[in-house]
Amino acid sequence: MIGILLGTRPEIIKMSPIIRECEQRGLDYFILHTGQHYSYEMDRLFFEELELPDPGYNLDVGSGTHANQTARIMTGVEDILAKESPDVVLVQGDTNTVMAGALAASKLHMRVGHIEAGLRSFNRQMPEEINRVVTDHISDHLFAPTEGARRNLLAEGIDDRKICVTGNTIVDAVYQNLEIAKKRVNVLKALDLEPNNYFLVTAHRQENVDSRARLKEILKGLHAVQKEFPLPVIFPVHPRTEKRIKELGIGVDGLNLTKPFGFLEFLQLESQAKVVLTDSGGVQEETCILGVPCATMRYDTERPETLDIGSNILVGADSEAILEGVRSAVTWRRCWKNPYGDGIAGKMIVMVCAATRSRSAEGR
Ligand code: UD1
Ligand code: UDP
Repeated sequence: MIGILLGTRPEIIKMSPIIRECEQRGLDYFILHTGQHYSYEMDRLFFEELELPDPGYNLDVGSGTHANQTARIMTGVEDILAKESPDVVLVQGDTNTVMAGALAASKLHMRVGHIEAGLRSFNRQMPEEINRVVTDHISDHLFAPTEGARRNLLAEGIDDRKICVTGNTIVDAVYQNLEIAKKRVNVLKALDLEPNNYFLVTAHRQENVDSRARLKEILKGLHAVQKEFPLPVIFPVHPRTEKRIKELGIGVDGLNLTKPFGFLEFLQLESQAKVVLTDSGGVQEETCILGVPCATMRYDTERPETLDIGSNILVGADSEAILEGVRSAVTWRRCWKNPYGDGIAGKMIVMVCAATRSRSAEGR
C-alpha cells in the first residue's frame, strides 16, 4: 500500500499525477492531508477541479509557527501511519508537511519516497531549504527531477542507488490539464484580457512578504513595470501576502489584485502572459514548460535549470532590477527546451512504489 501525504496547494497539484496513476492502476493507496492549507481556494478547489478523490484523512493542523505546525503534523501523521502501515510513504516538495511527514514515517521505520528530491537554493534562510535537506537525508527513494538535482544529492554523500531521475510531476500536471483548461475555462475573457498583453504576478515567500521593506520594494517594482508598459498586472494574492498587505497598510492601487485562481484558470493565465513575475518555485517551472518568460523576485533559486536555458531571470526584491528584468524578458525568443522531463514522472514514481515492499515485510 502507498501512503500519499500532502498539505498545501503545490503538493495537491504536483501529487495529482501520482494519484491519477494509482487510480488507473487500481493500486491500494490512501491520501493523508495535513490541512496545512485549508482555505477553499488553496485546498478544496484543487480536489474539485482536478477531480481527485477526497483524502481518507485530514489532520486539520492549520497555521502556526514552524515548530508548532511541524510538531502537530508529526503527531497526527504518526497515528495514521501506525494504523495504516503503508509499504511506502510519498511526500512531495519542501513544505513543513513534507519534512514533518517524512520524519514521522522514517521514525516508524517506514520507507519514504521524496518526490522533487535534490533541489538546493543553498540559502538556509529559507524554511524550505531546511525542509529539503532534512527530507532528502531521511528518505529511501529520492525521485530527483533533473540530473542537476541528482548531483546535489551525491555531493551530500547520498547513495546513488537511492536516486532515480524521473523529471518533475509538474510536467505531467501541465500536460494533463492544459487541454482540459482550454475546454472548460476562459479566464482571459472573464478578466477582459488579450493574449500576450498582460503581466501575471505571484508572491508569497516568507522572506519577501513578511518583510515590510521587501514587500514595499516588490510593489514599487510592479508599479514601475505598469508605468512603463501600460498593461494590466494580474496579481492573484496568496493568503499570507493578503494578510501582510492589510497589516502593513501598503498601497496596491493600479494593480489588479484577485483571489487565488484554480489550477486550470492559472495555467491558462500563465500560458498567455507577456511575462510572469513570481517568487514561487512551481511557477518558475511552469513558465519554463509553457514557453513564457519569467522574472523571479528572489536572489537565488533551487531551479537553476530555468536560468541556464534562459526562461527565467533573477531580479531580487529590488524595484529597479524588477523593471530592468522585465525590459529584458519581453525581448526573449521563447524557444528553450523544457528540462523537467516528458510528463511521465508520475508513472515512473508509481512503478517504483508498486514494487516496494515494506521493511517489516522484507524482514519476515
Ligand atoms: C507554505 C510553504 C511554502 C509553499 C507554500 C505554497 C512551509 C514552510 N511553507 O507557505 O514552502 O511555497 O505553502 O503556497 O511549509 N493561510 C490561510 N489559508 C490557508 C493557508 C494559509 O489563510 O489555506 C495564511 C495563514 O495566515 C498562515 C499564512 O497564510 O499563517 C501562511 O501559511 P503557511 O502554510 O504557514 O505558509 P505558506 O506561506 O502558505
Ligand atoms: N497556482 C494556482 N493559482 C494561483 C497561483 C498559483 O493554481 O492563483 C498554482 C501554480 O500553477 C503552481 C502552484 O500553484 O502549480 C504553485 O504554488 P505556490 O506558488 O503556492 O507554491 P510553491 O511552488 O512556491 O511552493
